[in-house]
Amino acid sequence: MTPAEVRAALAAARRVAVLTGAGVSAESGIPTFRDAQTGHWARFRPEDLASPEAYWRDPELVWDWYAGRYRDVTAAQPNAAHLLLARLEREKGAGFFLATQNVDGLHGRAGSGTLGGTLAELHGNLTHARDEVTGEVYPLPPPDLLTVPPTSPAGNRMRPNVVWFGENLPADALAAAQDAFAAADVALVIGTSGAVYPAAGLAAWTLRRGGIVAEINPQVTDLTLHMTLSLRATAAEGLRALLG
Ligand code: OAD
Repeated sequence: MTPAEVRAALAAARRVAVLTGAGVSAESGIPTFRDAQTGHWARFRPEDLASPEAYWRDPELVWDWYAGRYRDVTAAQPNAAHLLLARLEREKGAGFFLATQNVDGLHGRAGSGTLGGTLAELHGNLTHARDEVTGEVYPLPPPDLLTVPPTSPAGNRMRPNVVWFGENLPADALAAAQDAFAAADVALVIGTSGAVYPAAGLAAWTLRRGGIVAEINPQVTDLTLHMTLSLRATAAEGLRALLG
């Protein structure tokens, strides 16, 4: 299919499902997950910090890393790609579902999930922390006021409210995403390497049911071969081409 045909299909679609990854936040200045880490953190692979084992071994170290990312994310702003996806949700209403692997909260700050459709943060959100005993989730204080590890109102240590390597995704969010991708007339896969399952498998649900899937990514990915259309473009460029 050509970009013009996908654009027309998207305009006519009643149900649209979108999967985003770190690339959608690149234009907000947030490094993608697999980009080299800088400074002090260059010694660590993200996989060695974003895991339960790393946390039990050294909670302060893991929290210091998340506190730095939280500071960066708080200083960043949603970019044109986040805003175009919020606009698409306003157009499609309840027929719109956005599943993100990003933990930066930028989709929510752009309005996604509040404009008639659904936002599912499959890997959690690093702006929140979870009581290790009760499971209650709380927003973090502003970065300048954050001391780590934070403590809940009940006095328990809290952990970052994200899904780590080796942990399961929230079952209800994943099931809702699978339903939305299976029902979608058109799905978009934007800024993800397609390397981490089960999120990377969502597009297959749309294709299997006869829907259209378009990928937007400056690089070829593990998913490219399977796509109805693959646009070699940044998230904002690609969305402008498909949504105008
Ligand atoms: P990755 O860092 O694996 O991939 C980022 C993708 O964004 C790559 O395919 C880049 O080519 C693409 N990209 C870079 N700049 C872009 C731009 N301006 N516009 C669009 N795309 C761009 O990040 P994810 O695929 O999100 O999970 O990684 C998925 C998951 O892997 C993460 O959520 C994390 C990790 O394991 C957990 O922490 C559980």
